[in-house]
This record gives sequence, C-alpha cells and structure tokens, in this order.
Amino acid sequence: MCKYIETERLLLRELFPSDDLGMFELDSNPEVHRYLGNNPVTDIEQSREIIANIRERYLTRGIGRWAVILKGTNEFIGWSGLKLEKDVNGHDYFYDLGYRFIPKHWGKGYAIETANAFVNYGFNTLKLDTINAYADASHKASRNVLEKAGFKYINTFEYQGEEEVWYEIKNPNK
Ligand SMILES: CC(C)(COP(=O)(O)OP(=O)(O)OC[C@H]1O[C@@H](n2cnc3c(N)ncnc32)[C@H](O)[C@@H]1OP(=O)(O)O)[C@@H](O)C(=O)NCCC(=O)NCCS
Repeated sequence: MCKYIETERLLLRELFPSDDLGMFELDSNPEVHRYLGNNPVTDIEQSREIIANIRERYLTRGIGRWAVILKGTNEFIGWSGLKLEKDVNGHDYFYDLGYRFIPKHWGKGYAIETANAFVNYGFNTLKLDTINAYADASHKASRNVLEKAGFKYINTFEYQGEEEVWYEIKNPNK
C-alpha cells in the first residue's frame, strides 16, 4: 500500500512521532480550534499522545489522518486525510475527510490541494464508494474546501450540541 502521496506543492505521509513540535504548534493555537468544539492543547505530551493514537488507527482501522509537508521547505504545515469514523448523523461506519493547518499556511489553497489528493486516493487506491465530511454550519472556509473538492451538501444536523453540515462525494467509477 502506498505510504505517501505527492501533489504539486505538498508531500502527504503518515504522521511520525517526530512531528510532535509541528502538532503542538498546530493544536496549541486557539484560532485553529474555533470551530472544532474542543480546547487547544497546553502540553507537548498531549500532542505526542494524539500522534500515538493516530498511528494506532493506521493499524486497527487501516487509515488515519496524514501529515502535510511543504515540499519546498520540508516544513510540517498541518494534517489532512481520511479517517474511518462511526456514529455521526445516522451513519454507522464511514470514511471522513478532515484537515487542519497552522494558520500562517491558510489562504494558499493547501487544504483544497490535499482534499483533491485524498479524494483521488480514496476512490482510485482504496476503491471506496463514498467519502463524507462534516463541519460546523458557520465554518465557511471548511465548506469552501469541501465544495471546491466536489463534495455535495446533504443535510444539516445537530452533533454534540452544535449545528453541523454533512457532505458527501461518490466514486464516479462505481
Ligand atoms: C479549514 C481550513 C483548512 C481552511 O483553510 P483555507 O486556507 O481557507 O483553505 P485552503 O488552504 O484550501 O485555501 C483556500 C483559499 O486559498 C486561496 N488560494 C491561494 N492560492 C491558491 C491556490 N494555488 N489554489 C487554490 N486556492 C488558493 C484561495 O483564495 C482560496 O480561497 P477561495 O476559494 O475562497 O478563493 C483552515 O481554516 C483550518 O485549518 N482551520 C482549523 C481547523 C479546522 O477548522 N478544520 C476543519 C474542521 S471541519
């Protein structure tokens, strides 16, 4: 199985324990957590635990979020990718697309570039039928990423006390 994806500007690969500083820069920033319904981390040990949990998911569920590296500088700029999730909006198990970037890297099209790459990977390598995604209903930037990557809005639902929107994209080759 392919363990990395290369796009025009980015390298997408599994998260490693050595991504701890980058993950801490990402998840300790309150701006990043504005629409996520959880609190920023305050200790790098929390970031190490998050990486360990994601790496565990690679083994138990065969997939998980990947690190996003800027090819030009080799910098860690965030994560993106597919996760096998369960029990959201009436869906038992589903493949969820998500992304999270350090704010200085917003507004450059990196999230859209990774969304396109993971849709392609999900449909052509993993042969999935459907990929879903959900976001806070008022999270315009995230909805823009999904719509630019070809996802269709399906419905609005309540999740953990928040109004969320559900998106879907179908494999055109199935
Ligand atoms: C959600 C998030 C990834 C969106 O970031 P973003 O910077 O808006 O998305 P992108 O990196 O794809 O950038 C898109 C913008 O870059 C601009 N851009 C600049 N160069 C570009 C290029 N080469 N290609 C495409 N867009 C480019 C575009 O103007 C585009 O905005 P537009 O479509 O409105 O014109 C970011 O806000 C984030 O990480 N938030 C914190 C975590 C989070 O909320 N995750 C989602 C949870 S549902």
